[in-house]
Amino acid sequence: MRLRAALLTILFATATGAGAQAPQKNAMVSQGRLLAQALCADCHTLGGTTRSDRKPPDFAAVGAMAQTTPLSLHVFLTSPHVDMPDLILEDAQIDALSAFILSLGGK
Ligand code: HEC
Repeated sequence: MRLRAALLTILFATATGAGAQAPQKNAMVSQGRLLAQALCADCHTLGGTTRSDRKPPDFAAVGAMAQTTPLSLHVFLTSPHVDMPDLILEDAQIDALSAFILSLGGK
């Protein structure tokens, strides 16, 4: 009985663990790339330069900044910003865009 419970725990951990997360993350990153091309590329470049002094900043530069995290992007993308249009984004879109921006920054 105990052994069975332990086995179930292991199976569950494997199904929800790193093995299952990698493809899911890739899917989020490609979704985020599509969203960024559609909604952000008029102003931002999507990688290709690491200069962070440009305005608007390149997404690779944004993703590479130490202070950029999924949380910081979520906060940024849900609050109004001076030079940016107020984008109405769903949580899932924000998650995908964040995954894409962070992946460009090597995170
Ligand atoms: C109309 C032009 C425009 C569009 C469209 C736009 N942005 Fe921006 N964005 C800017 C400008 C300008 C800044 C710089 C603001 C500043 O630093 O004061 C900025 C800054 C940012 C930053 C902050 C970078 C930092 O320094 O922390 C993020 C993140 C960002 N944009 C994400 C996005 C995303 C994601 C989209 C698409 C969903 C988007 N932007 C669409 C103009 C735009």
